[in-house]
Formats: sequence, C-alpha cells, structure tokens
Amino acid sequence: MLYLNGAFLRAEDAKISALDRGCLFGDGVYEVIPVYNRNPFRLQEHLNRLDASLASIELPNPYPRAEWVRLIGEAIRLQSFDDQSVYLHVTRGNAGERDFPFPVDVPPTVLINPSPLVTPSAAQKAAGVKALSHADFRWLRCDIKSLNLLPTVLMREHAKRAGCTEVVLFRDGWLSEGAASNIFVVKDGVVLTPPKSHLMLPGITYDVVIELARANGVPLEVRAVSEAEVRSADELWMTSSTREVLAIVELDGQPVGDRAVGPVTQRMDAIYQEFKHQVMRAGKE
Ligand code: PDD
Repeated sequence: MLYLNGAFLRAEDAKISALDRGCLFGDGVYEVIPVYNRNPFRLQEHLNRLDASLASIELPNPYPRAEWVRLIGEAIRLQSFDDQSVYLHVTRGNAGERDFPFPVDVPPTVLINPSPLVTPSAAQKAAGVKALSHADFRWLRCDIKSLNLLPTVLMREHAKRAGCTEVVLFRDGWLSEGAASNIFVVKDGVVLTPPKSHLMLPGITYDVVIELARANGVPLEVRAVSEAEVRSADELWMTSSTREVLAIVELDGQPVGDRAVGPVTQRMDAIYQEFKHQVMRAGKE
C-alpha cells in the first residue's frame, strides 16, 4: 500500500500522469526515512529537510507538519513489515504540457511509499565494503534532495559493475560526500568530515553521528577534507539512513588502512546502534 495524492492505494493501482513534471524534468524533491519497529527515526529532522528542499525549489509544501506526520504514520501502519524505508516525494505536478517555467494553479504530486528496510548485511558490516572514487560532476545545489538523480544512477551503476557499494566524490581536490551517503575519514585517531554546504546533502545520519561522537568523546573535526587525506586515511566510513554507519575498506582497489573495519568505525557503529535502540525503545521518535 502506498499514498498518492490524497488516497492510500495498492501499488499496482497507483498511477500518475505521463506529463508529471517529476517524470519530465525531475522537478521535485524527496526524502528517505528509516523506520524501526514502526517508529520513524528522526522524523522531524527529515521533515525539516523536506521543508528546506521544497523552499529551495520554490514549491509550496502541500501539507502542514501534523498532516505529514499523520500520513506517514498511516502509510507505516498499512504495511505488513515492521522495519521500513519510507520513500516520499513531492513534484510540481502535472501541467498537461511540457513547458519549463512553473505552471500556475497545478496541484503537486505527493507520493509516500514505504518498502522493507534493507540495512547492510552482517557480512558487509563485518568485512566492510569497497568503493570507487569519482569526480563530483553534479550541480552546485547538492544540498537539495532533488529528484534529478542521473549522476547518482550512473555512478552507482559503474560502482556495482566493479563490485563496489559506494562512490566517494571529490570536487577540485576536496571530499564532498558519497553518491548517496556522507563520508567520514579517520586519521591518527581523529574523525574528519566536511562541513555542510551547497556541495553536499545535509545528512540526517551525518548529524546523528556528529552528535554522538561529541557526546562520547570521540575526537572529531568538521572541516574541509582533502582528497589526499581520504587516500591516506586510516579508516573511512559512509553514513546514510539505510546504510547507517558502514566501513569502506577499499578505495579504487587500494586498501584503506589495513583493509579491515577499523577500531574507530567499530566504536562509532556500536554507539550508533545503541543510540538507535535506546531511542526506539523509548518510543521518542
Ligand atoms: N540518500 N548524501 C546523498 C547524496 C544522499 O543521497 C544521502 C541519502 C545522504 C545521506 O543522508 P541521510 O543520512 O539523511 O540518509 C547523503 C538516500 C538514503 C537515498 O537517496 O536513497
């Protein structure tokens, strides 16, 4: 069951127009919210980022906050599985024609589609994963969670063909983020990660990990990280709502550190898992 424009429908009955601006132009924004045991994790933060993405593309938010919370809650309730990944998007709707400027008086298209949450396998967590690097050839508003995902599609396909799980992006010699994750580097016991800017998505998991590192006395610097620092890192990990904290042990075929999940990554992952379980037990989020 999914939600589309005011109704809960079976996926096979949910139809949108071929002229939806999401299809024609990728004219819309999205979110992916992890749900543990039917509790959405950091829901308010995801909805704040949705507000920011919508504001950036000058698309009015179709629903007040309480309505989003209600609809997402209902979408979660209607699934048969407890751990979910709630995908949602808002597009600028169906204008009935292909014309670039904004249409007038056209309702947005709203989709909320939960699917079973797929987090890294036990084997991936134990051994870490491989990544490729790539020049960050995306645009200059990577802070918007936009439906224009062609660079991500291409880069992740190439990564998959190479047996890799993620692509680490560099722009002008500096780390920006992963193709669909944020990247953390460990060098001499200090965790490094780039500050938020228009060159990366402000990850919700990135925020949680930074908060937890600070609260637990893990040395951390939020500052520009050079490509050379990434290539000589002792440890590397990615964060995202679905990958959580996942070690990268090989970059472009070269080992990261000694090609094993390092101690700082293990500690951070353990802290993250413990926090997640605590929050979910308390039913706070
Ligand atoms: N991607 N950077 C990019 C480019 C992303 O697409 C994502 C998430 C992140 C991590 O953000 P968060 O911690 O809020 O999930 C960083 C989602 C999961 C996706 O597109 O499927």
